[in-house]
Order: sequence, then C-alpha cells, then structure tokens
Amino acid sequence: MTYKNKHFLIENVSAEKLARKYGTPLYVYSYNKLRNNIKNFQKYFKAFSPMICFSVKSNSNLKLLNIIGRSGLGADVVSKGELLKALKANIKPKNIVFSGVGKTIEELKFAISKKIFLINAESENEIIEIEKIAKKNKKKINIGLRFNPDTDAKTLKEISTGKKENKFGLTKKEFLKLIKKYKDSNFINIICLSVHIGSQITSHYPYKKMLNVINKIIDEADYKFRYIDLGGGMGIQYKKNGNKLNYQKYSYLIQSFLKKNHAKIIFEPGRSIIGDAGYLLTKIIYVKKTNKRYFIILDSAMNDMMRPALYKAEHMILPSKLSKTYVNKIHEFVGPICETTDKFLTTPKYQKLNQKDVLIICDVGAYGMVLSSNYNLRPKPSEILVNKNLSSILTKRQKLISIV
Ligand code: LLP
Repeated sequence: MTYKNKHFLIENVSAEKLARKYGTPLYVYSYNKLRNNIKNFQKYFKAFSPMICFSVKSNSNLKLLNIIGRSGLGADVVSKGELLKALKANIKPKNIVFSGVGKTIEELKFAISKKIFLINAESENEIIEIEKIAKKNKKKINIGLRFNPDTDAKTLKEISTGKKENKFGLTKKEFLKLIKKYKDSNFINIICLSVHIGSQITSHYPYKKMLNVINKIIDEADYKFRYIDLGGGMGIQYKKNGNKLNYQKYSYLIQSFLKKNHAKIIFEPGRSIIGDAGYLLTKIIYVKKTNKRYFIILDSAMNDMMRPALYKAEHMILPSKLSKTYVNKIHEFVGPICETTDKFLTTPKYQKLNQKDVLIICDVGAYGMVLSSNYNLRPKPSEILVNKNLSSILTKRQKLISIV
C-alpha cells in the first residue's frame, strides 16, 4: 500500500483522480500486482511445476481472465457460463478443469464437446451421466474424483468445504468403491484425485493433514493417479497483522508427498491470485453523527461487495488522503441499502472524514464483483485496470435503464 504526498496511489495513479475520472463505486485492479501474484505463485511451486488453473468463480472479468491466461494459467470453472467465459478469454480447453457438485447433463455434454482437460466428478450419479455421454460419443473421458478428506481447514465455517458434513466430494467408502467400479471401464478414465478443503486458509497445517489423508487413501485404493488436484484455498492477509500462509512450507509438504506419489499437481487458486490486486473506491455520501457513533454512509453497499454482510469478513478501509486529525469515536462504515447487515467495518477511531471524501476498501479482487447484485435496484459498478500511469475501462458501470 502506498501513499505519496499523503495521497493513496494504485500503481502510479491517485485513488482520488481515478474516482473523479470514472466515478464511484469503482472496482480498480492493479495489473502489476496481479502479474506479481501469478509470478510468485509459480515461483513458490516451481520445484514440481504444477498446472495452475485460476478459479474463475473468484473473478470472471473477461480482460483479467485474458491476462491470467496469457500469464500461463488455465481455468477452474464451475458452470457453463464460466466455461464459456474462460474460452472467450482465449484459455485453451486443454487447460480447463470443471468442478462442482451439481453439473447438469447439459453442462457435462457441453464441457465434453469442448474437449476440456478434466471433469472433477463428485458423485456416482454424475459419473453415470458422463459414462452415458461417453458411450454415445464412442469415446473415453478423463475424469477426476473429488474426495472429501474430512479435514478442518480452520477457516470460516461458511467457506469450509472439506469436512464430512459438507456437501462436497466423495466419502472414503464411495471413493474406494468407484475406483474399483471404473478402473477398467472403456468409457471412463480416472486420471485424477481432487480435493479442496476450503478457502482463506492461512496455515499450512490443514494442508498437511489433507496430504496425509490422501496419501493413505491412495495406498488403500492401490491405484495410480496421474494427477492430484489440490484445489485452491490459499489465504491472503486481509488485516495488517493477520496470519499469512507460508507457501514455502506448503510447497515442501507437497514435494515430500510427491516422493512417494509420482503425479502432476494441479492447483485451483482464486483469492491468492487476484484478491489483493483489487480495490473498491467509494465516496462518502453523508457523515451521520449520533451520541454513540459516527455512521459513515458510503455510496458502495452490500450489493457491490457482499463479503462483510455474508461472512462478517473484514476489509481494511483506507482514506484516499491522509490527515493527522483523528476523531476518537466509533466509526461505522455502512452502505445506503435498507438492511442492517449493509455494513463494511466498525473501527474505534478514524481520521476526520467529510462528505464526498473518497475511501478505499481493500483486497476485493476475489469474490468482490462476482458476488455483486442489483439489490435495491442499484446498478453494478464499473471495473478498471491500472498499469503504472495508465488506466483503462474493463467493464462499464451498468446503466440504470438496463435494470429498471
Ligand atoms: N476450487 C474449488 C473446488 C473451490 O470450491 C474453490 C472456492 C476454489 C478452487 C478457489 O478457492 P480460493 O483459492 O479462491 O480460496 N465467496 C467466498 C469464498 C468461496 C470459495 C468457494 N470455493 C469468500 O468470499 O470468501
């Protein structure tokens, strides 16, 4: 995060200038932050050169996907829409994996017709449908089996996916049964074991446990998986002193896992690639003072950025211009939507704020714009990209006329 002469900069451009030029609320992405995140991710795991498939659900902006694809990443998609978007962004089918508990038959047919690299199946019924399509097309289809390792990711329960009570993946019993049933099939080729235990994981221990569990099940299955898809979930630092995943340790754990299990690793990262490359610029509509607290009423709301309302997630809110005058009152940053959960952050004090000041909500690149809606009939914000001194529009602000 950089301030120059007290002004917040995204790359070399001040947040205030961007807000003036494009209006607010405004999603801003930093091109170089994105590129560095990708490079760092590749660097951490270069010892075993994994296939890295960006999780499109975290951000499906076409131009960003195109940049991500050009940087050597594939895509992890969970719907026909995301698959179409990845293809439109020029990501090659051979670099696309399809995940999700409820792929429809139409989605499966479409994915197979596009010859994507892998479908990660999550139930026997799904495999039966894939088999039917394979028979009809007279071809053998590569699939992965998503295993539920019953591992606690030690993250928010809302974004935890690898516990046995979660809907995701196959139980150990089912997994072993399906390997036996399909290992000699003429139409289904099980090439991959896949797992994903949750999102925003900031310690390597849950991953260590997960690797131990899959190590055991591979032994029990007595089957050679050519690929192991470890999913995504790598957490980012939302708070200044928040925990941060130690990538080096995670990488070592995988390297030792691979000594015994020779396979190509697949990752499906979303947040760790795009999370901290995105900012939401917002303007103060009113400062409403009560005895107990100051409500800072913003022109952004839960429809623009859902994470706080949905998961009580905390995102830093920074001033676009620093001041030394502080107000020792509780500040509550809220949106104008008629819901009490339309609230971004509460802080015990803040620098003096005024109507029309621009603020920056940080780390919204992942699960920000993709979760936005038209609730309260508010148009969706524009998205722009900043590269050094230059800025360009990625998506235009929705026109009211198109939603009214
Ligand atoms: N692979 C699978 C199978 C997934 O379910 C997910 C995320 C990912 C990869 C990417 O995970 P990431 O690397 O981004 O953590 N909306 C929530 C997060 C939901 C995550 C869903 N699955 C949030 O805003 O925190």
